[in-house]
Amino acid sequence: MDNRFNKSSAILEYEQTFAEWFVGHKAFAFWKGRVALYAILRALDIGPGDEVVLPGYTCVMDVNPIKYLGATPVYVDIEPVTFNMNVKLLEEKITANTKVIIAQHTYGYPCYMDAIMNIADKSSISVIEDCCLAFGSTYKGKIVGRFGKAAYFSFQWNKPYTTGLGGMVLTNDSELAETIESLCAKESCKPSKKEVLMLAAQLAIYRAFIYPRTTAFAQSVFRYLTKKGIVVGSSKPSEYEPKMTSDFFKAVSGIQARSGLKQLGKIDKNIAHRKKMAQLYDQLLEEKDWPIRQYDTSVMEPVMVRYPVRIGEKAKALAEAAKAGIELGSWFECPLHPIETPLEAYDYEPGMCPEAEKASNEVVNLPLHPRVDEKTTKRSVEFITRFTKVT
Ligand SMILES: Cc1ncc(COP(=O)(O)O)c(C=O)c1O
Repeated sequence: MDNRFNKSSAILEYEQTFAEWFVGHKAFAFWKGRVALYAILRALDIGPGDEVVLPGYTCVMDVNPIKYLGATPVYVDIEPVTFNMNVKLLEEKITANTKVIIAQHTYGYPCYMDAIMNIADKSSISVIEDCCLAFGSTYKGKIVGRFGKAAYFSFQWNKPYTTGLGGMVLTNDSELAETIESLCAKESCKPSKKEVLMLAAQLAIYRAFIYPRTTAFAQSVFRYLTKKGIVVGSSKPSEYEPKMTSDFFKAVSGIQARSGLKQLGKIDKNIAHRKKMAQLYDQLLEEKDWPIRQYDTSVMEPVMVRYPVRIGEKAKALAEAAKAGIELGSWFECPLHPIETPLEAYDYEPGMCPEAEKASNEVVNLPLHPRVDEKTTKRSVEFITRFTKVT
């Protein structure tokens, strides 16, 4: 079945332009990243009894599609340098029921893909790359998103590029692509006119008013309005329990596609900017005798979405940052971000992933997006280094 006739020319052009960037792949756009993951899992026929392995340092919205399908999430602890799945612990999590490994490239650091692919191939397990925080990062010279059976991306406010909300599936598996296309035609719903209008208004407000100094204030207003249902937020209150709502499997809107096309036109500049600002943070933190990024430069070249820093007094720093007009991020507040997540409902028991729990207590992140300039990096580093460093 083919649902291409249902898609506007802007959506088709967006998908094609996105796919071309990765060469030899197909792309399918969705309302959000989590919907893209759901589409992949459905196409892989994941269901009750199946296990999906993922890092215990993620966003709960990543776990929802697994639970919606009745499958079981199995959490692997992270390693403390790149905050990615610790591949030394991965093999012991594999059972006869493991069907999928989700390789999440956290903060933009690519996972050790050789090790993950080796383990997966031995047991015919599908690898899905979570590229929601990594656009353009490479591992051994190969761009992330091109390693597994499929990858998915998010274009929500804090992501490598933003269309307000948005998601994408990328795959070079023609059978999987066909199944996703057919699923979309049969089951996906369109966003309502109200949702599209609200998103358009929010994008306009974002472009006009949201800069590093105003972000903290804007975020708190945004969260309040989301709870009241006045804006289309990233997550509705109903998404903090593992029960799928009837309008979850939602297609992309034209406004997201047009915005995405614009962003893709600027993607090389965006990537170069992120690399430059991350190096600047390295330099400024080093001058203050603070730890900087330590990753294996012989195999990876990350394009960071945010710059993670470990500090003491995380809660105090976040509260003071909001008052001081410093854009300080809290990812991830607990193994299944955000802090409000009822962990037991998602099969996470405290103590399961000690490194992830430690990182949740210590890590804040600094902005790297296109609106960050040298002045922002200096203010952010001045601010953050007032707190206790954690080495
Ligand atoms: C690592 C990761 N994967 C997936 C998602 C889900 O993306 P979306 O909010 O577009 O559904 C998030 C959410 O922010 C995330 O942080």
